[in-house]
Amino acid sequence: MKKILIINASPRKNGVCQRLIKTVIDNLPEDIQIKQYDAYKMGIKPCIGCGYCDKHKECAFRDMDTFREDFENCDAFIIASPVYFSSFPSPMKALIDRFQVYYAMRFTHNIKPPIKKFRPSLLILTAGSDNKTEIESVKAQAKQFLSIMNTQICEVFCKTNTDTKEITAADITAVKEATIYLMKSTILSVE
Ligand SMILES: Cc1cc2nc3c(=O)[nH]c(=O)nc-3n(C[C@H](O)[C@H](O)[C@H](O)COP(=O)(O)O)c2cc1C
Repeated sequence: MKKILIINASPRKNGVCQRLIKTVIDNLPEDIQIKQYDAYKMGIKPCIGCGYCDKHKECAFRDMDTFREDFENCDAFIIASPVYFSSFPSPMKALIDRFQVYYAMRFTHNIKPPIKKFRPSLLILTAGSDNKTEIESVKAQAKQFLSIMNTQICEVFCKTNTDTKEITAADITAVKEATIYLMKSTILSVE
């Protein structure tokens, strides 16, 4: 059974991200195992740059172990995040920085790739405005932190102007199509 891991980086219970995640879930096949994390509820400690991972191939903190196990085993990964000052909201940024353990594995310990299994990924971004520079900044961050972890962003959906515009039927269709494409990418990926 394929496993889909979703992370919601928004603090808002019925925010735009969560509503778009619902569209994703509604369009996933039934025989899929779905696990969703909410970054704001995970309480992930920020990276303290202690260098423990350079010595031990492990993180000094254990609060991300379950998430990491799910990440390493999933067949597809979905991030839904609002743009906060051209970046991710801070709990999501803390989680991203903690992926440093994989950079230590790759660049200090020469493990290529640090995660064996490949997974395609869907990035959903929501933004109050339609400022391209701000959105591109978040996309670049996502691309960078996922780059060494056998994870490829195969689709990006951005819902812009959320300050003034509601989710439309066209948005729903676009997210549905992105979900279908993501699932096709998991079928095509050879383990
Ligand atoms: C702290 C904060 C920072 C924000 N920074 C930006 C920004 O840099 N650019 C932008 O377009 N919108 C910005 N926004 C607006 C959110 O991206 C927008 O409301 C988004 O749709 C919220 O998604 P959600 O409903 O899933 O939480 C910001 C909102 C907050 C609360």
